[in-house]
Amino acid sequence: MQDQTYDRVRAVVRGGTAPFSGELISPGDKSISHRALIFASLCNGTSKITGLSSGRDVKATYKLLSALGVDVVRDSVDSTSVTVNAKGLRGYKEPSRILDVDNSGTLLRLMTGVLSGVDGHFVLTGDSSIVKRPMMRVVAPLRELGATIDGREYGALAPIAIRGTALKGKELDTQVPSAQVKSALILAGLFAEGTTLVRERIRTRSHTEEFLAYLGIDHKIEPKDEGREITVQQMSSAPKGFKLSIPSDPSQAAFFIGGVLITPGSEVTFKQLYLGEGRDAYISVLRRMGARIDECRSDMDVFSKGDLMVKYSKLRGTEIRANEVPGLIDEVPLLATVACFASGTTVFHGIEELRTKESDRISTTVEMLERFGARVRSDGSSLRVDGDSEFSPKTCSVQSYGDHRIAMCAAIMATRAKGDTVIEDFGCVETSYDNFMEDMATLWSGETFTA
Ligand code: S3P
Repeated sequence: MQDQTYDRVRAVVRGGTAPFSGELISPGDKSISHRALIFASLCNGTSKITGLSSGRDVKATYKLLSALGVDVVRDSVDSTSVTVNAKGLRGYKEPSRILDVDNSGTLLRLMTGVLSGVDGHFVLTGDSSIVKRPMMRVVAPLRELGATIDGREYGALAPIAIRGTALKGKELDTQVPSAQVKSALILAGLFAEGTTLVRERIRTRSHTEEFLAYLGIDHKIEPKDEGREITVQQMSSAPKGFKLSIPSDPSQAAFFIGGVLITPGSEVTFKQLYLGEGRDAYISVLRRMGARIDECRSDMDVFSKGDLMVKYSKLRGTEIRANEVPGLIDEVPLLATVACFASGTTVFHGIEELRTKESDRISTTVEMLERFGARVRSDGSSLRVDGDSEFSPKTCSVQSYGDHRIAMCAAIMATRAKGDTVIEDFGCVETSYDNFMEDMATLWSGETFTA
């Protein structure tokens, strides 16, 4: 619940012509890491999870679960491995303190869903960005299940106060295509008497559903046009603890994939990435722009994954349709960064949801790219980038506005500027990628400093 003092780190990237090369295993996937910990906390017995995201968001998840009385033990040598000893569906204890989600919208939304159906009183809040994130999209449908939830502006904003109570299953529509909303409702449905059906009109990442299947939890998924319906029953017994290795995060690899594509002479292999539905749409868009990305898929285990071999490419602009956006929601700033180097125009349609992220990501993306001299425009729900295959970014000073994805896009753009770019409030990259600068140093031969 502290403000983001950790952001006050300034990064300097000394750009030029240095290429990206080598091999990278990106950190564990953030979305899957949150869910692995939350599902483990509802199991009966011990779960061992390896390769967790080491970012602050996922640390907030295991701290929050510990505050609910779940025994979460981090490996003393490998901090990305944890053991969770849980006591089943009714294993949480009522906390005596406010629960801190830090900067994590996923944690706030998913745990609002879980705690709605668990006996006790719970208050959830986080940092200065979390208290601006819209909650009514989760709170309103949960109230339809009978949840007792309040918050600022009658439950629209955190702090969110939950009086866990008996829920009753129902058919629910998600108001916006959002995996966080869908997941909150599915998780609440597992505690609701009878059957809960969650309908999404456009498909979003399906990690919660992957866990239902993996843990053998009774559910049904029916595709409906561009969306799907997920039906769950009240769980009568807790799943057994599990052993799971988390695949690498494609949304974190995306920054360096962007760096490779825009820098002549670059070639990098990204290993063991999650490549399932809802996360790989940005790769299709990049291929449409002419990106040379080969893939080698591994045999499917719990998750669909594989390696990507990426080479510098001559890119051309493209149009991104509104119905593609939920599948690449986190990669819009990076795609816009890459589009600056493509010949012709790239237009993103229907991206208004970006205004509800860690920052107003339409404004912060436009401001960041303009600082580098790019030609970008937004009319509120769309974004237009007039690219240039000879684009040479200006050195500049740029603000991250405490948004990890804006900070990392700026760092990638800065590698192509001839001289020093200063990125203010760079410490926010820790939210999802605490080793970002180390991984950059592994792949990129240019210089970076932090102060
Ligand atoms: C996430 C879903 C996305 C994404 C976020 C993680 C998840 O949010 O932006 O970084 O883990 O479910 P929305 O589904 O709300 O768009």
